[in-house]
Amino acid sequence: MARMSGASPAGDSDGRLMDPNDPLPAPGRVQVAGERDQAAEDHGVPHANSDAHAHGEVRLFPDGPTSTVEAVFDGYRGYVQSDDDSDAESTDSDIEHSFFVERHGRLFHYHGNLPYPLPADELEQNRQIVQHLCLQHLLGSNFVGPVPELLSPDGGEGDICVLDLGTGTGRWVMEMAHQYPTAHFVGIDIVPIYPASDFENVTFQLGNIMEPLNFANESFDIVHARCISTSVRDYPELLREIARVLKPGGLFIGGEWARRASFAPHRDPDRDLAVHAPGIQAMFEAISSGLRDRKGIDRAFGPVMAAWLSDTGVFNYIVEEKFYMPIGDWPTHADASALRGVDYAARFSRMSPDDITDHLKIVGNYFRAVIDRYAKNMCPMLLESGNPLQSVKDLLRRYRHDLRHVEGMVCVYHAVHARKM
Ligand SMILES: C[S@@+](CC[C@H](N)C(=O)[O-])C[C@H]1O[C@@H](n2cnc3c(N)ncnc32)[C@H](O)[C@@H]1O
Repeated sequence: MARMSGASPAGDSDGRLMDPNDPLPAPGRVQVAGERDQAAEDHGVPHANSDAHAHGEVRLFPDGPTSTVEAVFDGYRGYVQSDDDSDAESTDSDIEHSFFVERHGRLFHYHGNLPYPLPADELEQNRQIVQHLCLQHLLGSNFVGPVPELLSPDGGEGDICVLDLGTGTGRWVMEMAHQYPTAHFVGIDIVPIYPASDFENVTFQLGNIMEPLNFANESFDIVHARCISTSVRDYPELLREIARVLKPGGLFIGGEWARRASFAPHRDPDRDLAVHAPGIQAMFEAISSGLRDRKGIDRAFGPVMAAWLSDTGVFNYIVEEKFYMPIGDWPTHADASALRGVDYAARFSRMSPDDITDHLKIVGNYFRAVIDRYAKNMCPMLLESGNPLQSVKDLLRRYRHDLRHVEGMVCVYHAVHARKM
């Protein structure tokens, strides 16, 4: 039986691969195979500092930021070094095809009626993992909000459960499960690109977040949903489902990108993308049109998540934060201070200003590769939206030219957290 490279397909307890027509599996615990730290190492989970661990937080840069951030990205160095088309074809030669359909030489989820436009193959999985690392190193953590309060061993009564919606490669779940071993983590996705977990406190399962969630009322302490703004059409409806499955006092953590890149506000707030980076502007216009006209997703969720949470009437303590992810290695010392804003001192208190600048340069360089691949991975949708092949190729060429040559751009990450009343 063929297997997915880079991640293992889901299987039942007999090891039989699940058929997409099978009913979704019931939640269950995954068997432990081997010693816990070994399992963490196998999954590339960063080693939590033990002091910090005891206090419910992970210090990502215990031995100096530059060497650590380089080490964390190490397995993905080729990601920024590869030239434009060296990864033009999917490399998944040995894959479980029944969960996927092939279009334009890429593998996608097989649910024709769901809007999600990105592939699910190894190229996209790698993009998700590098994006995860970039976000982790921009935020200085895998989360915003009072997570340690809820997940630290003496922080709650009974089972502590966390749900991750649209879990993708499961990287966030695996790292959090390592950091908080007394909590149980459940990750759901429409395709089994998550790993075959050998952590006893992790369950991955197939699930569709555009339908009522397959969980009882008030069953989770935390619900996490990151980068799902092209996965659902009706985010307010999903928020109502999230409220249903959260326990009273439970925490929702959401994070979404703005729909398009922009210039860093502290540099030149009036700088017009259409004038100074027309290739980037054109690509984001084309993606927005495709999402709206072909997929029925008519707006970015990031800027409105907090208002929608408030509209539900069941969340309070709603906190919204904006993080500016540099695109490329342009940040100077002054830029680094401005980009970090009020969180600069608190989150990176152990780093010198020079280290923070170096750190942002490295992260920005990787992130430029992430949004390069993002546009490339959106190209099948652009073709299916009626754009001729040659015009899609031109769009991508002009976009990549601007990514390489225009300085000072960012992608805004909107992070929100709120408590259920
Ligand atoms: C951009 S990825 C983000 C993955 C992960 N949350 C992260 O931040 O790394 C979006 C994920 O949502 C999944 N997805 C899309 N539509 C979905 C749906 N209707 N139900 C569940 N998952 C979905 C995709 O398969 C993909 O893995």
